[in-house]
This record gives sequence, C-alpha cells and structure tokens, in this order.
Amino acid sequence: MNSWASLAAKQLFQAWAHSGVTHIPNPREEGVRAAEKWLEQWSVDSGVEVAKSLGVFPGESAASLNKTAPATSPALPPAAPSPASISPAPAPSTPAPSIPAAPMRSSSPLPSLVDGQTHWSERPLELAARNERFRLLQAEVAACRKCTEIVCRRQKTVFGVGPSNARIVMFGEAPGADEDRVGEPFVGAAGQLLDKILVASGLSREEVYIMNALRCRPPNNRTPTEAEIENCRPFFETQLETIQPEYIVCWGAVAVRAVLRSTESVGRLRGKFHTYRGAKVMVTYHPAYLLRNPEAKRLTWDDMKMLMRELGIPIPPPKRA
Ligand code: URA
Ligand code: URA
Repeated sequence: MNSWASLAAKQLFQAWAHSGVTHIPNPREEGVRAAEKWLEQWSVDSGVEVAKSLGVFPGESAASLNKTAPATSPALPPAAPSPASISPAPAPSTPAPSIPAAPMRSSSPLPSLVDGQTHWSERPLELAARNERFRLLQAEVAACRKCTEIVCRRQKTVFGVGPSNARIVMFGEAPGADEDRVGEPFVGAAGQLLDKILVASGLSREEVYIMNALRCRPPNNRTPTEAEIENCRPFFETQLETIQPEYIVCWGAVAVRAVLRSTESVGRLRGKFHTYRGAKVMVTYHPAYLLRNPEAKRLTWDDMKMLMRELGIPIPPPKRA
C-alpha cells in the first residue's frame, strides 16, 4: 500500500475507533456482503465527519496520527473479537490525551426493538456515561447521510434536548424550518404551544427530554416517509434506551408510527397508556395540529391530566367561563 493510502486507512481506523465502533467485520470470516453493508453505514464520509466533529483531525499532523495509529495499517480493518456488542472500542495503542476514552458500550445503534418487549434492553447508565454516549451519537447523527432527499437541504441536524435522565420524553415528528436553523427541537410556533402546554401541566421544558422521530427537516415540512423513520430508528431507539424514561408522550401520528409502530389514528390511541419497552406511552395531538384545530386543545388537556394524575401533579380547577 502506498503511504497516502496507508495514512488514509489509519485515519479512517482512528475515526471509527473514536466514534465508538466496537466491531469491524472481517470479510474473510463474515462474508463480503456483511462487510459491504457495514461500510455503507460507516462510509468514508461518515468516518471523516465523525472524526472532524470530535475534533480528531483538524490540527493533527500526519506525524501525530502516525504515533497514535495502530502499529500496522491493515488493508482491510481487522475483525474485532466477538461478541461485538460488549467488546470495547479498538483503542489506538497510545491514545491522544485530548480525546476522551470511548464508553464501554458502542454509541452505535442498539439492536432494534423486539416487538412487544416490555422492558429496557440494558441496565441504566450513570449520568456521565449517558452524556458521553449522547455526545458520540450526536456526532454520528451530524455525519448521517442516509436520507438522500433530505441531507442536501438540511442546515442543522436536530438531536434532542433535555436531561439524559429525564422521567418524561416528549416525542415529536421532525424539525421544521426554525428547528433546522437553530438545531433544537420545538423552537418554532408549535414549540411555543408545547411550552405553554407543559407549563399548564406543572412541567417545565427544562425537566423533560424533547426529541423527534427524524433528526433532519423534510423538504417543505412534508410528512416523513416510512423509510426516513426507519433510517432514524437506530438513533431514536438508542436515545430512548439510554434515557429509559418512565413516560413517553407521542405528539401526533408520526410519533405514534415511530414509537408504537402503529398506523392507528391519534383519536383511537389517546386516552390510555401504551407500552414501549419499560415506558408508559401516552398519545395526543401534535401541537401544530392543535394550532390548526384549536377545538382539539380540550382533548389534549384531558390527555395531559391523565399524565398529571400519574405523576401526582395537582390538577388546577377548571376556570370559570
Ligand atoms: N414539530 C415537531 O414535531 N418537532 C419539532 O421539533 C418542531 C415542530
Ligand atoms: N393527525 C396527525 O397527523 N396529527 C395529529 O396530531 C392528529 C391527527
């Protein structure tokens, strides 16, 4: 291998290591198709972008990379020992001090939901480990290019905000124009209504975790496609599995499709709790829908009261007309 290719291989290998990759398939043992599929997910672009967003590449000279890179630069990355999901990331032999150690678990997507599973797949993490996983996962999100129609138009990816140990997750649809510009969920008109609903319910925006089915804005705010939801599934499922909230509120039909994998209407699913792994799931109308159909606000208030009763939050007496 020439020196340019060797350096590129080293850089890529490091990027993968620092992005939390725990397993690299060996085509000789696991088949070429498995290796190709893996490369599609962890493309050169994504490896480099992850590295950049983690601050690994800029300012690092080839010499310092050579120091920290594995002793041999493989033409094809070597296979890590199995089982993949619990093995630590392949660390460079001399880790650079500025790069935080990879967490014990990969930040990479967890195995997808087993339908009907009523408990979380892993033990809850300490707060610092949750935050570290989110930091790495956020870099993966920023580097994701799976939804080709969306990715060329997006300004910012919208990961989610709030405490990584929140009791309640507010789960929406997808970023709109404001969220795409700011990089935070629910900051536009729908977000302002959401804030009001939260305050009226004795909750604050700061104590809940707010996220969406999609991390990128669909063109003209069109409804996310099934394929787009599935592309984002590994991200939102990992976020939910990390937070392990007691309650998830699905705001609107797209959130329902993502979390409950149901195409039932909001109207039929609201009014009772459903289950997603270890969380109770409440379904209500999307704030943007409420802005267009104010008469439905009364129903969402009924839904919020159901949640407040569960949380032991006193329900204010009805205002006199
Ligand atoms: N609507 C959503 O569903 N999510 C946002 O973040 C903003 C608007
Ligand atoms: N249909 C939707 O898509 N969202 C709602 O909130 C209600 C009906």
